[in-house]
Amino acid sequence: MIKFVNLVKKFGSRTVLKGINLEIKESEIVFVLGTSGTGKSVLLKNIVGLLRPDGGEIFIDGQEVSKLTEEQYFPIRKKCGMVFQHPALFDSISVFENVAFGLRRHYKDWSEEKIIERVKYCLSLVHLKDQEEKLPPSLSYGMQKRVSLARTVAIEPKVLLFDEPTTGLDPITTRSVNNLILKLSRELKTTSIVVSHDMQCALEIADRIVVLSDGNIIAQGNTEDLKKSTVPLVQDFLHEVI
Ligand SMILES: Nc1ncnc2c1ncn2[C@@H]1O[C@H](COP(=O)(O)OP(=O)(O)OP(=O)(O)O)[C@@H](O)[C@H]1O
Ligand SMILES: [Mg+2]
Repeated sequence: MIKFVNLVKKFGSRTVLKGINLEIKESEIVFVLGTSGTGKSVLLKNIVGLLRPDGGEIFIDGQEVSKLTEEQYFPIRKKCGMVFQHPALFDSISVFENVAFGLRRHYKDWSEEKIIERVKYCLSLVHLKDQEEKLPPSLSYGMQKRVSLARTVAIEPKVLLFDEPTTGLDPITTRSVNNLILKLSRELKTTSIVVSHDMQCALEIADRIVVLSDGNIIAQGNTEDLKKSTVPLVQDFLHEVI
């Protein structure tokens, strides 16, 4: 579903991604772990075209996307929804309209009733049904994160990219967001890439865990593989939860 071939991303003289090779199958849930500043967010932004690679290729559903124009990228963004690390909502429009925004852009033929139904359903998934008339600044950070999750899920992308979806959330909401990721992936067969520091969650729901360090993949595999890994950083992550 997603394939990186020798992906390189530089900022000035600094190479952040140093030739990433990774293939993610349809409906797979892959967790990406790595210390702060290793390029996890940069990796996701390259998929949705917010950043463009300096070398290598990215295939999404068989299509090579690294050299597409902005206009050509529009359908890719419907296919690949990203939940950003920071909520980035529109502050001056309601929670309802924030979630409806992408639907109105991508599903121009939908009736208003259909949009209302979908927005309400997505807000109920993140336990925010009764907040739809509020403006984002009046919500807590955790609530704003959940709105941004609902907004991305609403357009039913085939690929969901989550950048630290549970950082800053309380344990109960964390669990429900993790369950939502699992449910979407299993029921809708969505392919998910989750950047997370939540090792416990990774061990519970990931099909595969990929560990990034200094611009390279230094380890990958399922829970059992990682437990056998002798890479010190992998062991450090594991010791967080054991
Ligand atoms: N637009 C940009 N311009 C210049 N440098 C950038 C840009 N975006 C990211 N970087 C740099 O690339 C490196 C990787 O950033 P990135 O945000 O991907 O880290 P991360 O792994 O997501 O970290 P964190 O866990 O803190 O979110 C950092 O050194 C960052 O300063
Ligand atoms: Mg990040």
